[in-house]
Amino acid sequence: MRELSPRPGDLEPIETASVDELRALQLRRLRWTLRHAYDNVPLYRRKFDEAGVHPDDCRSLEDLARFPYTTKQDLRDSYPFGMFAVPRERVARIHASSGTTGQPTVVGYTSADVDMWSDVMARSIRAAGGRPGDRVHVAYGYGLFTGGLGAHYGAERLGCTVIPVSGGMTERQVRLIVDFEPDVIMVTPSYMLTILDELDRQGVDPRRLSLKVGIFGAEPWTEDMRREVEQRLDMHAVDIYGLSEVIGPGVAQECVETKDGLHVWEDHFYPEIVDPVFDHVLPDGERGELVFTSLTKEALPIIRYRTRDLSRLLPGTARTMRRMEKVTGRSDDMMILRGVNVFPTQIEELILRVPGLAPHYLCVIDRPGRLDELTVRVEARADPVDETLAGQLAALVKHNVGVTVRVEVLPPGGLERSIGKAKRIQDNRPRG
Ligand code: DLL
Repeated sequence: MRELSPRPGDLEPIETASVDELRALQLRRLRWTLRHAYDNVPLYRRKFDEAGVHPDDCRSLEDLARFPYTTKQDLRDSYPFGMFAVPRERVARIHASSGTTGQPTVVGYTSADVDMWSDVMARSIRAAGGRPGDRVHVAYGYGLFTGGLGAHYGAERLGCTVIPVSGGMTERQVRLIVDFEPDVIMVTPSYMLTILDELDRQGVDPRRLSLKVGIFGAEPWTEDMRREVEQRLDMHAVDIYGLSEVIGPGVAQECVETKDGLHVWEDHFYPEIVDPVFDHVLPDGERGELVFTSLTKEALPIIRYRTRDLSRLLPGTARTMRRMEKVTGRSDDMMILRGVNVFPTQIEELILRVPGLAPHYLCVIDRPGRLDELTVRVEARADPVDETLAGQLAALVKHNVGVTVRVEVLPPGGLERSIGKAKRIQDNRPRG
């Protein structure tokens, strides 16, 4: 794989500023944000008043903990534009995330917000190893989803040649990768696997492609998946994180030279980790739920947004800004089997340790009696299916996670392919 470390002068000064300088900037911006939210969004004014806090009470970054959280429900209750802090005519862009429960969550951007987003995305692509002049194949979906357009504006801002393919039409993805010779691909990790299978089907050797780096996000993926993709494609695989409510992709990015977690772009997004059950703030290093406060956003200032994503904060390495550990999963995706918490990512990790299994899988939860049962449906790499694979995976899960699962091994192509975010859980339990 090619060496992609940044050269001196590549980085923005704030990326390597001192922690003191960064904290001073954050406090200034936080105070502005709290005031802006309180003055212009009735929901924030009501919530602050109810909690007995006022923007002037924020004199240090620690004071943020006195302010109330914002949840997805707050955005739903304000559907569609109730949380916008600027007149509607100043909103230059709308995005929305579909969610699983019906009503979409709507987010808005002023042109200054789109500009800031482009900047943090350009910074992310550079941290991933992209450079001006590179060709960037964007296979995140374009549309209301923030992935495609976020990647697009960032790559343009960095000075790259953007190839806006969007998701789907996998045969054509392969053809464009072969013909246009991109340096960078931006895509969900699960769709990358779908594209890899198509490369194999068309008899193209993935290791001989022009790609030097893949920027993967929008869903959890594991270190074992990184190894799989890097090995099969002979390119770097790095993680990008973000969510619509905070901006879209580009909230945090892994640096290609270290690959040790994602640096949160803290000059624009202030992270906290809170206890998902008891709601108090946890110190850096402890695992819990990520909470973000925007520091510069105009159209949709977001205060202490509960992401439901589980991670922990670690000190900066390649950049001054703190890192978040790769997200293990969402608290919503946690399965509880006889008292043991299990995430799909744990299953993914173990699947990749069985040489005959491919990382296409689905966790099916049933409740035949009073207890939940998990069936892992997973594909074999070869047909006919080796009969011993199911037992190998079940034993690994039992040994490493401590729970008994059923494993069904399907022939290659047996599971539905993702073209965006993969569905990893099918919950068949009765509702109520
Ligand atoms: O998925 C934004 C995005 C697009 C990020 C492209 C990265 C690349 P939403 O559709 O609002 O936005 O979904 C946000 O996706 O709360 C996480 O649960 C999950 N997620 C996003 N990035 C990662 C990641 C986009 N790197 C939700 N690792 C978030 C794990 C991720 N989960």
